[in-house]
Amino acid sequence: MKITNICCIGAGYVGGPTMAIIAQKCPHINVTVVDINEKRIAAWNDEDVNNIPIYEPGLSDIVKEARGRNLFFSTKVDEAIDKAEMIFISVNTPTKTYGIGKGMAADLKFIELCARQIARVSKTDKIVVEKSTLPVRTAEALKNILENTGNGVNFQILSNPEFLAEGTAVEDLLAPDRVLIGGDIDTEKGREAVNALVSVYANWVTKEHILTTNVWSSELSKLTANAFLAQRVSSINAMSELCEKTGADVNEVAKAVGMDSRIGSKFLQSSVGFGGSCFQKDILNLVYIAKSFGLNEVADYWEQVIILNNHQKRRFAANIVKTLFNTVSGKKIAILGWAFKKDTNDTRESAAIYVSDYLLNEQAEIVVYDPKVTAEQIYEDLDYLGTRTDSENRSLVKVVNTAEEACGNSHAVAVLTEWDEFKNLDWQQIYENMLKPAFLFDGRRLLNKAELKKVGFEVFVIGS
Ligand code: NAD
Ligand code: UGA
Repeated sequence: MKITNICCIGAGYVGGPTMAIIAQKCPHINVTVVDINEKRIAAWNDEDVNNIPIYEPGLSDIVKEARGRNLFFSTKVDEAIDKAEMIFISVNTPTKTYGIGKGMAADLKFIELCARQIARVSKTDKIVVEKSTLPVRTAEALKNILENTGNGVNFQILSNPEFLAEGTAVEDLLAPDRVLIGGDIDTEKGREAVNALVSVYANWVTKEHILTTNVWSSELSKLTANAFLAQRVSSINAMSELCEKTGADVNEVAKAVGMDSRIGSKFLQSSVGFGGSCFQKDILNLVYIAKSFGLNEVADYWEQVIILNNHQKRRFAANIVKTLFNTVSGKKIAILGWAFKKDTNDTRESAAIYVSDYLLNEQAEIVVYDPKVTAEQIYEDLDYLGTRTDSENRSLVKVVNTAEEACGNSHAVAVLTEWDEFKNLDWQQIYENMLKPAFLFDGRRLLNKAELKKVGFEVFVIGS
């Protein structure tokens, strides 16, 4: 089947960048990204491409090139579904906050709504592609909904999980380690659908990097990949605590261990804890699935990755309190970085939220600076926790426009996101404008400890 029209439901961190690259690399395909969030679509269509809703290095140039040519952003979901031969579902799949599986299972209501909408609108055969991260065997439920429309339309369901990381989305999409496509490879129609999607990617990805499997392997591989990645971070973070007790240095340990080619050097950067919208949610989902099959040991094994991560965030915050003579009540603490990693404006599950909440419970006053995150977002993140009232959050937390302003007159500075610009701050000047003793807590191992000590700071670096 030749693909000339693609629709993507969900214009978020995955749908937006992924479709922008497909449009750029496949000028012969019309790509329409639809969303029910009117504000988000309006931002994608903003005349000034610098105002698109997602910050990713290099993305605005690609949007500029393709938008209006063969890349479109719209709220007209039905229209885009009707026109497309291939429909990507790229909606959010958060952890359930109610009912059975609350706090663990993936909430699939948005996925199901999409399936029902596709079923209702479609008049011609469609290939439906799961782009969202889904529990293994979700395609079965989708198939059930789609095949009961009674209107004779044939649906093929593919799983095509996305492996991009935020902050490097464009480079990850342009040169992926692999593209994974799961389909019903035992049937002629299934193979045709798989080949149609392979042909789309083949416009810029070599065949050796396109992997095809059955649907279940594809769905489960995505959860497995995220679990393995998060596990590496928790593993090195577990060692960071031991390093602090023993005089070992976690970077030296990571380097020594990572040079073993069987282990590899990537993803061994110790931190204040991993954040982001997916690691925690996907592992909880994996734990839930394992438990639902009665695989309690498997579930416990993976749950430990989350337990360690929560511990890492808590112990970082607790150490601030302990170091500041066991009280931060009424003390000003500067938080540098709110995003869950550098080069993104995404704050979902960011360690900064939890560290700040802990310090606020200890009655600290928080001043935040992040180069890409808005004050509105920071307050929203704290309000969402429900620990205190919205107005308390606004009176205890100040958001400012420069790192210098955040640090001025503070008792302590905590670096929680590894933004490059923090490396180049005038730390001498910052020191002079702080209360003494001036404490600095580096949760990212970003700064030069020896130099900061020379300036006069009392420095604490995670893992050493
Ligand atoms: P997101 O919240 O940024 O975007 C999802 C969008 O879907 C939202 O704009 C929402 O309004 C829209 N939406 C929800 N229901 C809809 C409906 N019925 N019709 C139209 N639009 C609808 O989420 P995201 O970060 O892009 O993640 C999407 C999926 O991709 C998740 O399953 C996630 O696990 C997975 N994933 C995310 C990343 C990442 O880096 N963020 C990477 C790989 C995979
Ligand atoms: C992660 C995966 O890397 C992607 O492959 C996957 O597609 C995506 O999740 C997803 O499914 O959503 P992302 O969360 O965007 O991508 O970013 P990562 O680079 O993986 O970082 C996640 C968190 O771990 C960040 O808070 C980061 O600071 C932290 N981290 C990462 C460390 O603390 N140490 C490391 O060595 C690496």
